[in-house]
Amino acid sequence: MNFIPVCEPLLNGNEKKYVADCMDTAWISSSGKYVKAFEEKFAQYCDVKYAVGVCNGTQAIHLALRALGVGKGDEVIIPNFTMIATAFAVCYTRAMPVFVDAEAETWNIDVEKIEEKITNKTKVILPVSIFGHPCEFDKIHELARKYNLKILEDAAESHGSEYKGMKTGSLADITAFSFFANKNITTGEGGMIVTDDEDLYDKCRYYKNLCFPLEGGRTYKHNDIGYNYRISNIHSAIGLAQVEKADEYRAMRINNANIYRRELADIEGISMQNTKDDVLHVHWMNGILINPEKYGRTRDELIQHLKDNGIDTRLLFLGMNKQPSLLKYGCDCTNEYSVSDNLHENGLYLPSSSGLDETTIIKICEVIRAYSTL
Ligand SMILES: Cc1ncc(COP(=O)(O)O)c(C=O)c1O
Repeated sequence: MNFIPVCEPLLNGNEKKYVADCMDTAWISSSGKYVKAFEEKFAQYCDVKYAVGVCNGTQAIHLALRALGVGKGDEVIIPNFTMIATAFAVCYTRAMPVFVDAEAETWNIDVEKIEEKITNKTKVILPVSIFGHPCEFDKIHELARKYNLKILEDAAESHGSEYKGMKTGSLADITAFSFFANKNITTGEGGMIVTDDEDLYDKCRYYKNLCFPLEGGRTYKHNDIGYNYRISNIHSAIGLAQVEKADEYRAMRINNANIYRRELADIEGISMQNTKDDVLHVHWMNGILINPEKYGRTRDELIQHLKDNGIDTRLLFLGMNKQPSLLKYGCDCTNEYSVSDNLHENGLYLPSSSGLDETTIIKICEVIRAYSTL
């Protein structure tokens, strides 16, 4: 078997044509027509009014927090089981990330444990739809209403997913996406914020562009401190081509996940992220959790064995409570996070590119099956 990477992008639409157009017309920075076209098309894809393109998903979360007015002295509730960018973006605003453990079925933030972490400093709940499984938004909205909080979804891994028939992007006050190369749709590096709130939209556009005034000429007078988070025309050209294919790529990811589930279902000691009935899970990555007693091998032994067979894997995220950087920043890392701990200690994710074929997935699963000692 050739080496199978954990993820590689699929660029089989209009990407080359649109990028060539940028080159031919010399519109290569952030002013070209593809930025607007990509933003409009992505907003449409998410069933929302507004979208703002930025250079990556981390910036998208940061900018959204800034637009929501989060700053020093505030607290933002985030899942303990997430990629570090969720927490770092909160730190950039000088607010404090507060962690909530994952729940065992979906690996998403445990909504039953959010309320106990809400204080009079809490300003925002920042759920992350892990690996493309939407969070339990009804409960999150109930809490946001009760405590007058805003909801920012980190949907970096969740393009095109749905909760009770509603598209991700339309489920929160504001939503941040990443278009890193391993995401279901990609621009290489890139990000997007979407919202239905015109005020948040304007604030994102304002802060993203060094706080140049949104209207009027350039006086070079800046009333606030802003950022240069402008996405380029070239990245947007790739993004537009990708959104045109978003449903196709989504179907491929879901199909891959179905094959993994079918092939791994009867292997003792291997389990996967469960999918709730009322969601459309887009399966950015296929994570597995090993029970060493039942499987007969440890997670690290399996990773090495897969590597020896040319199969790339990654660990599941290390919990935020275990991050030296966040401890140094002053986060409260003292509580128990048993679900996140288990995910990191016994979990890994398998190759999940949209373009994987069924034969390859079956072979990967056969390697896993044959390695069990039981
Ligand atoms: C949950 C989550 N949030 C944020 C990010 C950050 O996105 P980016 O790498 O585009 O900055 C990622 C990226 O992998 C992610 O998985």
